[in-house]
Amino acid sequence: MDDVEWLLSTLSAELEVRPPTSRRREARYLAGNCVKLYHGERLIAYAEMRMVGRHMEISTVLVDAKYRGQGKGKELIKKALKSITCDKILCCTKNPAMAKVLHDLGFTVKKWPGFYTYTILSINTLRRLFSMLLRFEFKRIWQQGKGIHTYDMFVIEEK
Ligand SMILES: CC(C)(COP(=O)(O)OP(=O)(O)OC[C@H]1O[C@@H](n2cnc3c(N)ncnc32)[C@H](O)[C@@H]1OP(=O)(O)O)[C@@H](O)C(=O)NCCC(=O)NCCS
Repeated sequence: MDDVEWLLSTLSAELEVRPPTSRRREARYLAGNCVKLYHGERLIAYAEMRMVGRHMEISTVLVDAKYRGQGKGKELIKKALKSITCDKILCCTKNPAMAKVLHDLGFTVKKWPGFYTYTILSINTLRRLFSMLLRFEFKRIWQQGKGIHTYDMFVIEEK
């Protein structure tokens, strides 16, 4: 399985993250601002990074199901933190394992990241909703929407 196939199949299986797109677009994501972990030649973990207002957001955090609970999530986020130069970093999640990783690495829960970041985050959330609607990803919308009040915004403001 190559990296693009792994990413497509893992995104399809995980309803808490963005939906899979085309092979071409996923290849662009893999060549872009992201961190990856390999076991030999095999991609086993992946996360994306992008500027959201004044913060760098870590999103689409994925560890291969066979490798979970072995510290790979923590290793991946540590790698992301090393590569990020922005001193304000955020990650939104309602996944308890992800929350544990972020907490252990020094992130704290923040309600208000500032007007600019909050506005861009809200726009991105709406864009993601439209993209899921266009792809008829109703199960994904339900999965992400049903616990919307349990999402926490984890932030580190000085690395
Ligand atoms: C979230 C995810 C990235 C975590 O990866 P992982 O490799 O299992 O993470 P780690 O093994 O480094 O650490 C997980 C920690 O959470 C703990 N944990 C696991 N399940 C937990 C739960 N239900 N409640 C609280 N803590 C939990 C583990 O014990 C571990 O803590 P430890 O380091 O003290 O032992 C992985 O489960 C995943 O890919 N999930 C699907 C996609 C997803 O939901 N991504 C998050 C979207 S932002």
